[in-house]
Amino acid sequence: MRGYLVAGNWKMNGSAASIDALMTGIIAGAPVSSGVEVLVCPPFPYLSSVAAHVAGSSVALGAQNVSQYKSGAFTGETAASMLRDVGCKYVIVGHSERRALLGETSEIVAEKFQAVLDVSLQPILCVGETLAQRESGQTQLVIDEQLGTVLSSSGVDAFANAVIAYEPVWAIGTGMTASPEQAQDVHRYIRAILEAASETVAAGVKILYGGSVKGDNASGLFSKPDIDGGLIGGASLKSADFLAIAAAAATLS
Ligand code: 13P
Repeated sequence: MRGYLVAGNWKMNGSAASIDALMTGIIAGAPVSSGVEVLVCPPFPYLSSVAAHVAGSSVALGAQNVSQYKSGAFTGETAASMLRDVGCKYVIVGHSERRALLGETSEIVAEKFQAVLDVSLQPILCVGETLAQRESGQTQLVIDEQLGTVLSSSGVDAFANAVIAYEPVWAIGTGMTASPEQAQDVHRYIRAILEAASETVAAGVKILYGGSVKGDNASGLFSKPDIDGGLIGGASLKSADFLAIAAAAATLS
C-alpha cells in the first residue's frame, strides 16, 4: 500500500532555539509505524541543524523550495544538489505562496520539479485553486494546468518518485479546512489524470492534502481512499499538534 506521509511545512517561521525545542519534541514522539513517514521542512538556514536532529531517526528532512538551475551565478539561490548534500529527501515545489507572492509560473515549477528529480530527491508538487476559482467552477481547470504542465514536461513515470499535495488556497492558514468529501473529490480527480497515463504510477503516488489540517480533522481527511497524508503549515510548528496529526495517520495505517 501507499502508506501515509505527514509533512510539516514550517514556512518562514522559527529561530535556532525554537527549532531545537520543536525537533526535540518531534523526535521523541514521532510514531514508530512502517505505514507513516514523518517529514519536516525547515527554512534553509536550519536544514543542517535539523539534519543533525533527524539523524538516526525515522523522521525525514525536506526543503521548501529549490532553484531550477544546477549551479553558478544565481545569487541567493539554492541548488537541488546542495539540498541532497545536507540530507534532504524531499523538496516542496510550487507552493501557492510562491506562485502567488513570488511569481512562480507553472513552467518554472515544472523546471524545479525536474531539477529535484535530477539529483534523485523527491519533489512534492503543490497544486490548488483559489476561492474565486472554486466558486466559478474552475477547480478542475486549475488542476489540469498546474499538474498538466509538469506531466507534459517530466512525463508520468516521474511521478513514481514524486508526491503531489492538493492545497486549496482558500483553506491555507484560514481555519477553513476542505471537508473530507471536497478534498477526496479533487484527490480522485488528480489520481484519475495520472491513471489516464499510467495506472501503476497513479496507484503508487501519494497525494497529500494541505490547508488547515489539525489533530481533530486529520483522521476524517486521511480516512478517504485517495488522501495519503497531509502537508501541514501552522499545526506543524508545535510538536504536540503535529504529532497528533501523525498519530491520526498511524491509527489508520
Ligand atoms: P496551514 O496548515 O497553516 O493551513 O498551511 C497549509 C500549507 O500551506 C502547507 O504547505
